[in-house]
Amino acid sequence: MAVFVSGRGSNLQALIEGIAEHGIPAEIALVVSNKPEALALERAERHGIPTAVFSPADFADQDAFADALLKRLYETEIDLICLAGFTLILPYRLLAAFPQRIINIHPSLLPAFGGKGMYGMHVHRAVLASGAKYSGATVHIVTEEIDGGPIICQEVVPVEDDDTPETLAQRVLEVEHRLYPRALQLMVEDALEINGLRTRIKQRAD
Ligand code: GRF
Repeated sequence: MAVFVSGRGSNLQALIEGIAEHGIPAEIALVVSNKPEALALERAERHGIPTAVFSPADFADQDAFADALLKRLYETEIDLICLAGFTLILPYRLLAAFPQRIINIHPSLLPAFGGKGMYGMHVHRAVLASGAKYSGATVHIVTEEIDGGPIICQEVVPVEDDDTPETLAQRVLEVEHRLYPRALQLMVEDALEINGLRTRIKQRAD
């Protein structure tokens, strides 16, 4: 699998640790960042994971960017992509090349507080401004609709009366770190049945 990052990389760290702790049969073979300064790249290197920087600004157009990235993913025999704080909207070619094989973590209870412009602190500010009493984290399959693909798993986080965007973000992040490895496990074990936007754990015959 590959993990796509743009920043801090705490979810990348949670995936690395989750794979080891829970014996998830997955190998992070590549970490891709669109930003050369991403702290996540240092985390990957510390764990001996190969890294690559692909920035659209270095390519003539979106197609050239997508083709170069795809070439690298195929060379590395990637068959699952986890977005972990990746701030770019994926080119259509990439989505088409990995149908139902790209997953993302989002710091709210989707479909609430998702979509264009809803990332990072924008999400937590919007949750507080709405007066919602609960927020949470969601892992979902990536489709063309931003934050709109089938939901793999979610966990609820209460909003406290004196929360600031920062304190809420921190409480949600702790949940993200246990949710993402769980979602990864379901994906690599091919445990999900997907029907439209609904997913369920497959019933095994045995
Ligand atoms: C997380 O809150 C994640 O839900 C969102 O971006 C943030 C990334 O944090 N997509 P990190 O880089 O994994 O620490």
